[in-house]
Amino acid sequence: MAVMAPAALLAILCLAGAAAAAAQCAANTSLAGQQADLRMSQHQLRGRVEVIDGCSFRVTALDLLPGSASARWWRADGTDLDALSRGEPAAEEPLDRTFRSESLVFRLLPGLSWPLVPVLAAYDPLTSSLFGFVRLSDSNASPSSDSPSSTSASAAPTMFDSCAELSPRFRVRWTLHEANNSVDIGLEAAVGSEYYMAFGWAADPAGEKPSVIGADLVVAGFTEDGLPFADDYFVTKYSECLLREDGSVEGVCPDTIYGGHNNDSTSAKLSNFNDTRLVYGHRRDGVSFVRFSRPLVPGDNKYDVAVNASRNMTVVWAIGLLRPPDSLRPYYLPLMSRGGAGASSAGTTAFAFAKLNLSDSGGGERRCVGPLDAEDKEDQARITAERKTPLLVTVGPALHYPNPPNPDKVLYINKKEAPLLKVERGVPVTFSIEAGHDVPLYITSDPVGGNATSRNTPEVIYAGGPKAEGVPATPTELVWLPDRNTPDLVYYQSLYDQKMGWKIQVVDGGLSDMYNNSVLLDDQQVTFFWTLTGDSINIAARGEKKSGYLAIGFGSAMVNSYAYVGWVDGNGKGHVKSYWIDGKDGMSVHETHENITHKRCRSENGAVVFEFTRPLAPSCSGRVECKNIIDPTTPLKVIWAMGAQWSSGPLSLKNMHSDTSNRPIRILLLSGLAEAVEDLRPVLAVHGFMMFVAWAILLPGGIMAVRYLKHLKGDLWFQAHTYLQYSGIAVMLLGVLFAVAELRGFSFKSRHARIGAVAFTFAFVQPINAYLRPDKTENGEYSPANRVVWEYLHIITGRSVAIVGIVALFTGLQHLGHRYGSKNIKGLTCGLILWFLSVALVTAYFEYMSIKRRRGSADGLSGKWVLGNTEEDDTVDLLQSERVVSKMESNSSPEPMEVQLQPLKG
Ligand SMILES: *[C@@H]1O[C@H](CO)[C@@H](O)[C@H](O)[C@H]1NC(C)=O
Ligand SMILES: *[C@@H]1O[C@H](CO)[C@@H](O)[C@H](O)[C@H]1NC(C)=O
Ligand SMILES: *[C@@H]1O[C@H](CO)[C@@H](O)[C@H](O)[C@H]1NC(C)=O
Ligand SMILES: *[C@@H]1O[C@H](CO)[C@@H](O)[C@H](O)[C@H]1NC(C)=O
Ligand SMILES: *[C@@H]1O[C@H](CO)[C@@H](O)[C@H](O)[C@H]1NC(C)=O
Ligand SMILES: *[C@@H]1O[C@H](CO)[C@@H](O)[C@H](O)[C@H]1NC(C)=O
Ligand SMILES: *[C@@H]1O[C@H](CO)[C@@H](O)[C@H](O)[C@H]1NC(C)=O
Ligand SMILES: *[C@@H]1O[C@H](CO)[C@@H](O)[C@H](O)[C@H]1NC(C)=O
Repeated sequence: MAVMAPAALLAILCLAGAAAAAAQCAANTSLAGQQADLRMSQHQLRGRVEVIDGCSFRVTALDLLPGSASARWWRADGTDLDALSRGEPAAEEPLDRTFRSESLVFRLLPGLSWPLVPVLAAYDPLTSSLFGFVRLSDSNASPSSDSPSSTSASAAPTMFDSCAELSPRFRVRWTLHEANNSVDIGLEAAVGSEYYMAFGWAADPAGEKPSVIGADLVVAGFTEDGLPFADDYFVTKYSECLLREDGSVEGVCPDTIYGGHNNDSTSAKLSNFNDTRLVYGHRRDGVSFVRFSRPLVPGDNKYDVAVNASRNMTVVWAIGLLRPPDSLRPYYLPLMSRGGAGASSAGTTAFAFAKLNLSDSGGGERRCVGPLDAEDKEDQARITAERKTPLLVTVGPALHYPNPPNPDKVLYINKKEAPLLKVERGVPVTFSIEAGHDVPLYITSDPVGGNATSRNTPEVIYAGGPKAEGVPATPTELVWLPDRNTPDLVYYQSLYDQKMGWKIQVVDGGLSDMYNNSVLLDDQQVTFFWTLTGDSINIAARGEKKSGYLAIGFGSAMVNSYAYVGWVDGNGKGHVKSYWIDGKDGMSVHETHENITHKRCRSENGAVVFEFTRPLAPSCSGRVECKNIIDPTTPLKVIWAMGAQWSSGPLSLKNMHSDTSNRPIRILLLSGLAEAVEDLRPVLAVHGFMMFVAWAILLPGGIMAVRYLKHLKGDLWFQAHTYLQYSGIAVMLLGVLFAVAELRGFSFKSRHARIGAVAFTFAFVQPINAYLRPDKTENGEYSPANRVVWEYLHIITGRSVAIVGIVALFTGLQHLGHRYGSKNIKGLTCGLILWFLSVALVTAYFEYMSIKRRRGSADGLSGKWVLGNTEEDDTVDLLQSERVVSKMESNSSPEPMEVQLQPLKG
């Protein structure tokens, strides 16, 4: 009895509590009977909520992937981050298990009634994750909302009347609209974002022997930007879509292509070729979902199949890899795997036939049960931290943040939105933070971030803090060393705002650990690893995004390069092969027989990683690959390419790759340094040309004018000198400004820049120097001593500057060859040398002529002012001529002898 009494008491208390709750529930609610679809945010939540009475609700056909133990039905006054964190649980039962198409009744927590629950959400406060929600509105409160609008408000695009399972990872859902003779179809597959989903009706839907030829398919999927598409396709042949030269089309092609090549089609009819309308699409939890609508009886009989909703009809479905649009075929096309006919689920492409009756809302024996549960739910871009490469942290708009609700702006790493960051224990991670002063970065155990302490939640901070903030002008560097005690999963977050970052996966021993060196190749899409061991080199390459194959090449461009290609075939086997490429199409890719060992290739979440070892110098001769020698002391130029598909056999496809490096990276294998081989930028070419005009034409021309034009009448030589020198300096100034603007500032690291700077400075001194020239004294005489000194100075600096400038021209060409690897440097240098040789020849000729002239008129006065005295050194010719002039002036010669070095009057 002593034991029974408390139990009985408890039972009574419970009863009383239930009674009290029942009493509250008796309160009538105007919401009773209202129904609304749950809107899916994540965890594949589906279901229809119906209000039963004042404090309970039923959820029918509830699908949900489990949340944490704290996930609950949640009441909130909105669906944004703030509203949800202000909210509180609405029901007792945790949502921590998988719900499989269940119908359940939930009771609101005591004290809650519907007016307090404007939004009923499925929410996990631990990770601040919204699974989905319904908005319950009092229909009396808003009388304007009549029934059609309220039904549209309560219908979610993820909800359908029927569903059939085509394969364990592929489903079709549909809702039949008998009224307007159309059907809404939803395709749902647990595959990566690079896969398409195809579904349609076979040509002879009632036939016994189904054929894919003539099938009317809808191909749905996601573009690289994550946007859904659903297009009408027609199958004329089991092959990839092929556009013939004569305009005919065959394969699995969009209806619009066939239509476009049909003469009798008017534009009105053209629109009929494409009668599939995309309604909605998303990717959540690693599941692709696309909803579209199509008429049962299409307007285009040629490339579409009419569907009889009340009959068993043969449908065709397929999932496989998408080929992104290229210049030849600007469509997302399904890739066909070789010989893949039949329902093979082993490879990447799977396709099969099924019988489907649209009126059979139960889906027959193919009924779907529970949510699709993808093995790989992580859809975010992946970035692996490398030892020497800083990760660039910025902020950007939230487009595909994986854990809604989220703020408008989230963290980007290396320009990817909230990627999954993979780091290795023992490898320091460097962040270069330029996300703004209000977004300091920290590494925390808290999945929500934004200072968990202020939410009374414990957290461990591994790195970062209020000081880890910066802007692009002054980025802050943060180094974090994950060690043995760092857990497998931590988060990078903003210290002040919640949910701006995402997960960091901490692993042991990866490529960074196994190889001594690594560099990111051009565009940061491929990482190249290597270790030099004696006379061989171990090489690994990792793609940083999903692709069918990955190729790296040694050379300046695809053509004439030694390529190594890694790919994983349809059976999951990895291959590494070496090639010599001597042309642009598939025919020019020749497999070679290099002695490469330790070949490994695997796919890490769709990104290809391959490794191999090869001797530095092949021990053979004669064949082309025998010339593929790696010399660690000279820079190795490395390029890359990626594409959808590769195979061992002969390669016949024309457009092999979908993505390539724009320029090679030069890697110094011994030091581990790398730099981009840059294209010669056009502005720098202009710089070179202007400098040529200034230093090879205008300025030497000006100097020669002084020396060789004096025998002409008037002050022509003076005018020529000043005009040429001033325009030379102006052109040079422009050239310098071009270079400075293009290279964003001065840098005196190269010899060319230093010599150029000297030439530039002294060239600028010359006009100043000319301006400071000692003037005539008052009685019209020159002050001889000053004048002599000045003229020596002017002439000597002038000629030295010209020589320095010419040297700068040659170093400029050298720099060009060094930095940009331009092939025509030799030609340019030869041309420049030829130019100066001819200038020297012309000078010699003038010199000869002037000496002859001087000899011829040695005793005539008229000859004296031409080039100075023959008795005197002609390096001081200016001086000489001036003296002569002054003499002649004093002699009041009738000749116009006003040839002083005055700035021109007026
Ligand atoms: C609830 O309202 C309905 C009519 O709207 C009425 O018939 C019913 O008696 C009410 N029940 C209670 C418990 O007030
Ligand atoms: C058919 O009607 C339903 C509503 O009854 C609508 O949702 C759907 O968009 C319509 N389809 C077409 C093709 O007009
Ligand atoms: C298409 O039209 C052109 C002229 O308009 C005609 O020459 C050609 O034969 C037509 N082709 C077909 C397939 O009808
Ligand atoms: C089909 O039509 C829709 C909208 O009318 C359009 O967005 C889509 O690109 C078209 N598809 C093709 C293959 O032309
Ligand atoms: C659909 O098939 C049924 C027989 O299964 C037939 O009675 C009906 O007329 C067909 N409807 C159309 C539109 O062809
Ligand atoms: C459709 O197929 C199912 C079995 O797949 C069969 O039970 C049913 O009778 C068929 N219905 C019609 C109308 O042929
Ligand atoms: C986090 O918030 C707590 C309490 O609001 C505050 O004391 C602490 O300084 C904050 N931490 C940081 C790093 O700002
Ligand atoms: C390939 O290289 C390995 C060592 O790197 C060597 O033992 C082997 O003989 C070589 N094979 C050929 C065919 O050159």
